[in-house]
Amino acid sequence: MAKAKKRYVCQACGSVSPRWQGQCAECSEWNSLVEDVSQALTPFAARHNLRSGGRAVELVALDAEVRLPDRMSSGIAEFDRAVGGGLVAGSATLIGGDPGIGKSTLLLQAAAHIAARGLSVAYISGEEAADQVRLRARRLGLGDAPVQLAAATSVRDILTTLDEGAPPALVVIDSIQTMHSDLIEGAPGTVSQVRASAQELIRFAKETGAAVVLVGHVTKDGAIAGPRVLEHMVDTVLSFEGERSHQYRILRATKNRFGGTDEIGVFAMAEEGLAEVANPSALFLTDRGESVSGAIVFPALEGTRPVLVEIQALVVRLASGATPRRAVVGWDAGRLAMILAVLEARCGLSFSTAEVYLNIAGGYRVSDPAADLAVAAALVSALSERPVPAETVAFGEVALSGELRPVSHGALRLKESAKLGFERALVPASLAGDKGPMRLTGFRTLGELVDHLLGRQ
Ligand SMILES: Nc1ncnc2c1ncn2[C@@H]1O[C@H](COP(=O)(O)OP(=O)(O)OP(=O)(O)O)[C@@H](O)[C@H]1O
Ligand SMILES: [Mg+2]
Repeated sequence: MAKAKKRYVCQACGSVSPRWQGQCAECSEWNSLVEDVSQALTPFAARHNLRSGGRAVELVALDAEVRLPDRMSSGIAEFDRAVGGGLVAGSATLIGGDPGIGKSTLLLQAAAHIAARGLSVAYISGEEAADQVRLRARRLGLGDAPVQLAAATSVRDILTTLDEGAPPALVVIDSIQTMHSDLIEGAPGTVSQVRASAQELIRFAKETGAAVVLVGHVTKDGAIAGPRVLEHMVDTVLSFEGERSHQYRILRATKNRFGGTDEIGVFAMAEEGLAEVANPSALFLTDRGESVSGAIVFPALEGTRPVLVEIQALVVRLASGATPRRAVVGWDAGRLAMILAVLEARCGLSFSTAEVYLNIAGGYRVSDPAADLAVAAALVSALSERPVPAETVAFGEVALSGELRPVSHGALRLKESAKLGFERALVPASLAGDKGPMRLTGFRTLGELVDHLLGRQ
């Protein structure tokens, strides 16, 4: 019989290597390779020939009748909006987020709402004792919701319990990193344990039609801890974001096999739990009095809803020859580098001896490419110490050539900005013709915008 080959799995990224190495070749993490004993080769697999000896599967036509998946409303409109209209029966959802951001709170609230409608809901906590969860439920005013609660970490125990009665409509597993499958060796939280536990729980969802929600820890870079494969295994991946020092939280789908990923759910964290914020457009705007240099408002679009955020830039000239820092909060650092490069190469502005800091106010994270123009305007304003008038918004995409490109839903962004009292907008030239309540200034290139902000024209 062929001898089972050893394989080593990186605990950070899940890549497999035939040899142990000090550093993972995929993700460059140190000391992250651990021998994986779970995948011994069977003599069958070793033969590599899968062309015969199997059972023929039935092939069916694509146009056969199908029912739309049953969706279970959580009773929390913002939650339903983010997942595409409600949790789908028989689906697996993974929700990730920083420690203490409110994952358990959100899921307990959703579980209680669903249970209160007469559906059976099981909440399995691997991190907290049942009493702790009960205390939280009481604080949230949900102490009498008929949620079935258990503190357990063995997947075998959990599935045995769930198999006893009728399958529940919803199972919450808080968190997948604490779960343990006795089918394979290894401590909870290791890649192979997380993968094996998730596999069993997802199979339970598919077989029984229960919606399974797994809570996942995130690493310090914000990725869901454990193997990337976990994200491939589930149907929906949600991320719960926000700054702990701020009140607002955003639920965003990063993958959804049953719906779109463009809508967000917005919540405010309070003593009595997470409150829904139905109209978030003005939420992240700080009190805006006098104009200050380096600050401009950007009307971001999240799905169908505009959210206005303030973009703040600070440019500090360095006297010494030290390497200047670039720090970004709430935006993509690579994109900032690109905007700085375009400003330097196409507009003749030099940031090479200056430190650059960029911040999206209110703990909001912008992923909308239309922020380019607003970021550029904030940087130019910060560099020149010339404030942009406070009643101004800006949006548009910047190409490497320095040209400004129009973006989607310009009219909607302008309408919401006007509603919140903004009067002027800096936009790509192709948009400037749009009739609307605002005074628009259009630019064809980033150079034109720079000239305008520096008062050169
Ligand atoms: N007694 C309290 N009063 C008000 N707010 C509280 C109270 N206890 C907790 N919170 C809030 O709830 C948050 C913790 O929420 P929760 O436990 O749901 O987070 P989590 O994402 O599940 O965290 P973890 O990753 O540790 O499981 C705290 O950061 C705090 O803002
Ligand atoms: Mg928790």
